[in-house]
Amino acid sequence: MRVLMPDLPEFRALTVEGVTPLPYRNGEVPDGEAEGVVLWGANAETRSHLFAQPGLRWVLTLTAGIDHVQGELPPSVALYNASPLHARAVAVHILAGMLAAARGLHRFRDQQRGERWQPRRDLTTLEGASVVVWGYGHIGRILEDLLAPHGAQVTGLRSATPPAERDAALAGADWLVLLLPDTPDTRGIVGADVLARLKPGAWLSNGGRGPLVDTDALLAALESGHLGGAVLDVTDPEPLPPGHPLWARENVLITPHIASTTADLTRRGAEYTRAFLEELAAGREPGGRVAEGRGY
Ligand code: GLV
Repeated sequence: MRVLMPDLPEFRALTVEGVTPLPYRNGEVPDGEAEGVVLWGANAETRSHLFAQPGLRWVLTLTAGIDHVQGELPPSVALYNASPLHARAVAVHILAGMLAAARGLHRFRDQQRGERWQPRRDLTTLEGASVVVWGYGHIGRILEDLLAPHGAQVTGLRSATPPAERDAALAGADWLVLLLPDTPDTRGIVGADVLARLKPGAWLSNGGRGPLVDTDALLAALESGHLGGAVLDVTDPEPLPPGHPLWARENVLITPHIASTTADLTRRGAEYTRAFLEELAAGREPGGRVAEGRGY
């Protein structure tokens, strides 16, 4: 089985019986037939070369989201993602944002820049907090486990949750955590109406995709004070351009789409790839197959 793989030392070191690796880089895709592609860091132009390989049967993207691939692959090609590779880091990142917000670390960091020693009283813990996780799956379950020792309660929302149940959960939420994929159904799902349903002072954490949230509605809810604040690992637009009003808001914590990043991610991605290829080479169906029309 000939497989196009990232030309990185961690992937070059992989040997799986029955697999011939074909290393590629951005702008350098070897010619010839390939049955599979392992996608990691490929830009749009390189992806289009990779996906045009004769004989292509499957693509493994080492990301959780698949929005960069959607619409680019012929329907005959099976798509797999790698959510388990990212779940713990994303859950830890969301928890870190919640704790930072509860303890006002962002405000103290701002004060530190001005060398100001100024205690605040509006600090909390997560004890008793109601956390609504919209897009409750593997990451949501890990987050729930991480939150349990803090005394927070998690309510998971899925696409099948009846609207009345969802609205009741939103009305009682201290935190709304978004872990949804970006699909035509989820785009703009958090608009002015959803934000207005939240308890006054609730916080929003977006660890899914920027376009889930209507940015103008978010800014208006922050401006009015209805929303306590927001922790955003993803934004719309993304990257957030210099001068964008979200940068200047003191109750917004922004990270540049790194929730799933760890220093050893490439090594872990290569290990994930090895296990995936071993399953395929043994004639078994690997995990992570993305169903038609799903975002993860
Ligand atoms: C990161 O956002 C991912 O989809 O893996």
